[in-house]
Amino acid sequence: AEGDAQSDSQTLNVLTESGFKPFSFLDKGEVVGFDIDLMDALMKEAGYKYELKNVGWESMLASVQSGEADLAIAGITMNEDRKQTYDFSSPYFESTHKIVFRSGENITSGEDIKNVKVGVQTGTTGAEAVEKILGKNHENIAKYESNTLAFMSLQSGDVDAVVTDNVVADEYVANNPDANVEMITDPETFESEFYGIMFPKGSEVKEKFDAALETLIENGTYTEIYKEWFGV
Ligand code: ARG
Repeated sequence: AEGDAQSDSQTLNVLTESGFKPFSFLDKGEVVGFDIDLMDALMKEAGYKYELKNVGWESMLASVQSGEADLAIAGITMNEDRKQTYDFSSPYFESTHKIVFRSGENITSGEDIKNVKVGVQTGTTGAEAVEKILGKNHENIAKYESNTLAFMSLQSGDVDAVVTDNVVADEYVANNPDANVEMITDPETFESEFYGIMFPKGSEVKEKFDAALETLIENGTYTEIYKEWFGV
């Protein structure tokens, strides 16, 4: 019934993967970001206590699938594939992909990554988008455990380009003025996606989060958090 969550002292186990600035990242050892602030506001609204754990991407997905974790938030795209295995909240953010590449590479469209070595994070929609262009397990696709490692490989020259979520690409380029990189997006190639909070299939708390998200959107809290991170 309404209000039950408040009296219910259940502590939810929340997972994130902090290699995804500005959504989830480490600042002086602390996990922060748009997603983290949003989740904190949702928890308050829904009346839950929670414990946040920062883990690797693949282990995050596995722990939500097994029900070991109650939910995860980490710029996770909801797509038909994942909906077979997980439940998702209603969407909270729209995204697409961008190509970040070493200045001088001749990349003006999504198709142009066919000519270079591309870094992606394993098991992401960015990896899928690249495989759609180059072919599954193509030798010019370098897969990394984290998006952070993919960007490091771009820096060291191990790859020529990285494909990742547009806002994360924007953030990287803005924060690395000396990196000598450029970026493009290509709406012909990269589809629009939506982030959702990820729950185990059959989650009993999912609906509370949908309701809380709706409230935060209606009462302006979502916009406040959005402005804090994205300024507009
Ligand atoms: N939105 C993309 C996906 O769901 C990338 C998410 C990567 N998130 C992260 N925390 N590394 O596949």
